[in-house]
Amino acid sequence: MDLLIKNAAVFDGDGFTEEDIYIESGDVKKIGPSLKAEKGCRVLDAKGMIALPGLIDMHVHLREPGFEGKEDIESGSEAAVAGGFTQVCCMPNTDPVCDSAVGVSYIKYRQAEVGLCRINPIGAITKGQKGEALADIGKMAKAGAVAISDDGKSVMNSKMMRLAMEYASGFGLKCLCHCEDANLSDGGVVNEGYNSTLSGLKGQLRAVEDIMIAREIALSESLGIPTHICHVTTYSGVELIREAKRRGVPVTAETCPHYFTLTDDVTLDYNTNTKVNPPLREEKDRLAVIEGLKDGTIDCIVTDHAPHSVKDKEVEYDVAAFGFSGLETSFALSYTYLVKTGVITFKKLVELMSSNPAKILGLKGGSITCGNPGDITLVNVDERYTVDSSKFRSKGKNTPFDGWEVWGKIKATIVDGDIKYMDEGIES
Ligand code: DOR
Ligand code: ZN
Ligand code: ZN
Repeated sequence: MDLLIKNAAVFDGDGFTEEDIYIESGDVKKIGPSLKAEKGCRVLDAKGMIALPGLIDMHVHLREPGFEGKEDIESGSEAAVAGGFTQVCCMPNTDPVCDSAVGVSYIKYRQAEVGLCRINPIGAITKGQKGEALADIGKMAKAGAVAISDDGKSVMNSKMMRLAMEYASGFGLKCLCHCEDANLSDGGVVNEGYNSTLSGLKGQLRAVEDIMIAREIALSESLGIPTHICHVTTYSGVELIREAKRRGVPVTAETCPHYFTLTDDVTLDYNTNTKVNPPLREEKDRLAVIEGLKDGTIDCIVTDHAPHSVKDKEVEYDVAAFGFSGLETSFALSYTYLVKTGVITFKKLVELMSSNPAKILGLKGGSITCGNPGDITLVNVDERYTVDSSKFRSKGKNTPFDGWEVWGKIKATIVDGDIKYMDEGIES
């Protein structure tokens, strides 16, 4: 069915104009004032709402197949559209690991069956993410993988990583690099510093992350092959990427809302909902991450949505699972702590959460333009609400943001012109 969105403040890349958007057969057909509803067309009144190009999260964990107790493709998709995401890319650390064409096809099949947001599979770099032999990269590319990653760990063997980058680039795919020197991290669960001394929890030096960021940059520079750095957290890592970009190295980078809103101070009460990998760092890191977002060193905001069950988190800090359920808090945290505070512009936020991820991975979407898919997120930035994890669509209630007051409510999420999510009180 066609869809007419009335009276939305349409973000056109620079500013807002109150306009209507007509979506026909899934694609944006017309944008303009006072468009008429054609027969049989659904109408959604978006007065007071901003229409953004559908948000894209290029780094999530959906857990299916194998860990459906934590999340599955259906619950993860519901969480995604509730969070305003029309498109996500899912990491391969499932059971079995997504390291073959069959694994990639399974995710695409399930996404079609669930039919909420677009789900782009990310294939593994190495078979079983064991770091020993390359996965079927070419076959995964042909089956529809949009990138490769051994996320959860680094590919420790640099020659293996070189081969992966060369091979993947032949198919137009990038490696998404989880940067962690596994020998140096050695079971660390928080940042190593003043607070780990106070808490007695085992720490991870910044160098754990920086060494691998430096290696990926070195490989990218020597080979002339683009690379992407996952979840940057350290001030020194931001500086490595900034310098590399200045030299013209084809590197891009992401960070997550928790790295620009929290520091390791929150780990001092041993709440396992503060345990994440890479760990929360110190204030100077948090400020450097924000600087990196401002000056373009960091290209996008991702959630690293890592849902876990209660039993994975209600244990001692040392043995609890790493990660936060992030899909349903990302937009509001980013809007509240970056835009509302005046740190970045709205335009920049749209780049970070939609157009840049689309560019980095060559995905459709990232702008509201005639002829492009009708992927649109409607938000009310003047609406304030309290984060309540018990209401998450995600099976993972593991968030450090429970009870936080935030601005920016997702009102509706539209994929291919179909309304996939509507907030309470919205009618069409
Ligand atoms: O906190 C994390 N959780 N970091 C990772 O690298 C993996 C992820 C997960 O899969 O739970
Ligand atoms: Zn990771
Ligand atoms: Zn991850």
